[in-house]
Amino acid sequence: MAYKTIVIETNDDVELIRLNRPDALNALNSELLGELADALTRVDGDPKVRVVVITGSEKAFAAGADIKEMSEKTYADMALTDFFGAEANAISRVRKPVIAAVSGYALGGGCELAMMCDFIIASDTAKFGQPEINLGIMAGMGGTQRLTRVVGKSKAMEMHLTGRFMDAEEAERSGLVSRIVPAKKLVDEALATARKIAEKSAISVAHTKESVNRAYETTLSEGLLFERRAFHSLFATEDQNEGMEAFLEKREPQFRDK
Ligand code: CAA
Repeated sequence: MAYKTIVIETNDDVELIRLNRPDALNALNSELLGELADALTRVDGDPKVRVVVITGSEKAFAAGADIKEMSEKTYADMALTDFFGAEANAISRVRKPVIAAVSGYALGGGCELAMMCDFIIASDTAKFGQPEINLGIMAGMGGTQRLTRVVGKSKAMEMHLTGRFMDAEEAERSGLVSRIVPAKKLVDEALATARKIAEKSAISVAHTKESVNRAYETTLSEGLLFERRAFHSLFATEDQNEGMEAFLEKREPQFRDK
């Protein structure tokens, strides 16, 4: 499928997806979200790709869902099509690691898209916000749930109710982003981080991602049990032998995803 609103660059086993609607600060319309969901579904089934990085431009990761597209919609239009529900599910269910590299505005659906990724690396210019309240609506792609779980009720509630933006430093302090890098180095840093993950055993990576996500989706005792079972299962892999032998022999491991 030829995409119009995203650009894909494959760097060995890391796929970089750039959101590409520069005239609208990468606002997320149906076409873009459909293309992104399609690309991520394809990547998930492509054994050559091990890690994905999603980024935008220096000015905007994404300034939200496309207000022009939504402006004429009625309640029935939104509810009966489950507007953006299928795309958001497809994007957040990718099994491979997905890193958001955020520079500039990550607002509304843009902030929500970044939070659907496994972690966020931010540039020093990043601004996060859920300003939907200023449009007479509210967040609709996970913001009330994911932001609250990440930064806590007080900060999430204030951001959703006032629409104020959070800068990169506050976002790092609050646990929303894993770290901040200079804007010019953002994509290189995100790709270097992705390559580091790509060197690991794909089996340990997949089980680790699933287990960390359980922390958000289940009770502590269920999550601990899930983690223990996943941990035990890795002792059935050749990569566990290789990783431990390499450590004991003081050499780098050569994982084979077996
Ligand atoms: N939808 C559609 N177009 C958008 C857009 C959006 N979310 N955000 C920016 N644009 C467009 C602008 O309309 C403008 O287009 P024109 O040149 O054709 O007029 C272009 O991008 C550049 O934007 P600005 O001129 O506004 O740029 P700025 O630097 O002055 O301001 C900004 C930047 C503060 C991000 C401002 O554009 C803004 O406030 N955007 C809207 C942010 C917002 O409300 N996001 C939430 C959307 S609703 C949502 O996301 C719902 C959900 O949860 C699913």
